[in-house]
Amino acid sequence: MPEQENETDMQTYATVDELMHAAAEEIIFQSAESIATHGYFALALAGGSTPRQLYTLLANKELSARINWSCVYLFWGDERCVPPDHSDSNYRMAYDSLIKRVPIPASNIYRMQGEQRPEQAAEHYQRMLQHFFTTPLADEPMATFDVVLLGMGTDGHTASLFPGTAAIQEQTRLVIAHYIEQLQAWRITLTPVALNHARHIVFLVAGAEKAERLRQVVQGDEQPEVLPAQVVRPVHGKVRWMVDAAAASVLEE
Ligand code: 6PG
Repeated sequence: MPEQENETDMQTYATVDELMHAAAEEIIFQSAESIATHGYFALALAGGSTPRQLYTLLANKELSARINWSCVYLFWGDERCVPPDHSDSNYRMAYDSLIKRVPIPASNIYRMQGEQRPEQAAEHYQRMLQHFFTTPLADEPMATFDVVLLGMGTDGHTASLFPGTAAIQEQTRLVIAHYIEQLQAWRITLTPVALNHARHIVFLVAGAEKAERLRQVVQGDEQPEVLPAQVVRPVHGKVRWMVDAAAASVLEE
């Protein structure tokens, strides 16, 4: 893959446990930096199963005490089109592992409404993002998350940008809803426009089953249609990959 102007930062950890502790420290560091710089920390959470251990860690007494939760604002990179109490809900996973265990004000949580009609939920979320990032609190010209956490599927998707979907090429909207043939299900997702204006983007990838795909994404040919994780190219800053040794096992030196 051609050298990106904002080179890829790859950090490998021997075990998942070490990876999650390092990711927790990164979130704590970025939250302090953001709050000190502009008074809030806008964090977009990843869904799926990998980040659950990270969210659980961040809720632990010792680590949680190092975050000023009253200035933390939570968003999601994507959501399944199910109610918030559904076992597939990314919101529910974050609620159970983190939100219900930390003193974050309910008004700081910007949930994607998976229970609504998908396009309506996407439109609502887009309006919410535009409102949040243009109020005096943020006053940003564009949805500028401080950190976007992302996972990567074994097919190279990220958020709910799946191979072969038009969402990969979206140039204007921040949020879309689309039907995913591979899943036979609707998803709501941030688009590359919203993702790539983040100040920091962190991929969290673990497991040998992702190793070959990770190599293709970070070291293979540029083909975002096939490997949507490649569309994540932040306008400012760089992508930080935080991976365990198993996922990194076939990366070329
Ligand atoms: C989702 C996620 C998705 C996830 C990858 C990896 O809603 O499923 O946002 O992009 O990050 O599918 O999922 P795992 O962490 O479960 O492997």
